[in-house]
Amino acid sequence: MAEQAFIKDIADHTGETVTVKGWLYAKTGKGRLQFLQVRDGTGIIQCVVFKKAVTPEVFETARQLTQESSLIVTGTVRADERAPGLPGGIEMDVNDVQIVQAVTGEYPITPKEHGVDFLMQNRHLWIRSTRQWAALRVRATIIKAIRDWLDSHGFILMDTPILTPAACEGTSTLFETDYHGSPAYLSQSGQLYNEANIMAFGRVYCFGPTFRAEKSKTRRHIQEFWMVEPEAAYVDMWENLEIQEQFVSYLIQTTLRERRKELELLGRDLGRLEKIEPPFPRIHYDEAVEMINKAAAAGERVPPHDERVPAITWGGDFGSPHETYVAEQFEKPVFVHHYPTGVKAFYMAQEPDRPETCRSSDLLAPEGYGEIIGGGERSGDLAFLEQQIEDHDLPREAYEWYLDLRRYGSVPHSGFGLGIERTVMWICGLDHIRETIPFPRLLGRMYP
Ligand code: 4AD
Ligand code: MG
Repeated sequence: MAEQAFIKDIADHTGETVTVKGWLYAKTGKGRLQFLQVRDGTGIIQCVVFKKAVTPEVFETARQLTQESSLIVTGTVRADERAPGLPGGIEMDVNDVQIVQAVTGEYPITPKEHGVDFLMQNRHLWIRSTRQWAALRVRATIIKAIRDWLDSHGFILMDTPILTPAACEGTSTLFETDYHGSPAYLSQSGQLYNEANIMAFGRVYCFGPTFRAEKSKTRRHIQEFWMVEPEAAYVDMWENLEIQEQFVSYLIQTTLRERRKELELLGRDLGRLEKIEPPFPRIHYDEAVEMINKAAAAGERVPPHDERVPAITWGGDFGSPHETYVAEQFEKPVFVHHYPTGVKAFYMAQEPDRPETCRSSDLLAPEGYGEIIGGGERSGDLAFLEQQIEDHDLPREAYEWYLDLRRYGSVPHSGFGLGIERTVMWICGLDHIRETIPFPRLLGRMYP
């Protein structure tokens, strides 16, 4: 058998005879010619089986191949710019086909349209389809870019626990579990532990799964999502924004360079992404409220449901039409900063001159993708934090260690959390978060 080649670099083998190990994605045929679209996980290539070029058995095998049968194909690689496939432009003239496992019944996902419920029920198979495949490859690239940027900008990886004794982001979305007879919660965020880690390491990040028992079904929420959380000592809220805009721009530009094909396949408007570079606009919460209320008074509407922008009273949190409206006013992602202290988590630093606002920021992505980052400067005020823990009804004993961080060498510090799935959704231009992770955990669905 000829040497195995992967489709992603098969162009390097032009003129050679190689073997591709994969699955039959689709097939068309007429008379003496069979066109096999073969995928191997790295791409799709058109394999041409010409009756005269193979034995009668091989031709018959090719003719009877069924969708998603696993197979090993050997043939000669030939450049042909019209050839379909991924990356395309290359064909294989087949001289041998071996079946590894022949699919007998009909493969559930046929080229016809399927409903979303059906596709989600068959997610374990759906991920083989080109759009899903493309989005998940983009995801892997974004994750690598995240690590590369942080690792080369002085942030050191610190893994934070998944099983935790207390809440970080409010008690209403906690997943409770049993820890040998005591309650424990699946982590909503590694931030509090990172605040301890930076006092030892300066700049750190954690990157792991986080859990939120979100009670509502939206296109932007999942129950289990991945978040990268950088945290840095001696960084205030403004420097925190500079880090974020550099970081996010790097993610976009790297993905554009390395996953252009996949983004094109997804139909992404690349021009919108190409514009994403620092600086990003910054607006105060007050200003955002004013913008929203002007729009509400003028009867403005926002996509995707052509919903009216509702008015908001100062002190309230933004709903998704508010975020969409604000973000739509800018071509780049926009920072909204200084949210009311009352709508943000207990740890946010108050703005000294206006304690009803805090040194928090959200980064809102354009085109209706909403909040992709939440972050801010953490309070260093021990008495304020003690009061916040009480006011937020949090069990004081579970936070004693956290309060120690304000007793022993407290410094100004800030950080942020970027949601991977929201970022993938935005970069890929997807309508729903369920397609940004291989096996999403959604309200009312935990299969497969
Ligand atoms: O704004 P959040 O809740 O912030 C935190 O958890 C902070 N502790 C982060 C930090 O400062 N270290 O969540 C951060 C991001 C959001 O902007 C969003 O991208 C994502 O996490 N996120 C979700 N993504 C999908 N489904 C959900 N249910 C999400 N909840 C938050
Ligand atoms: Mg948030």
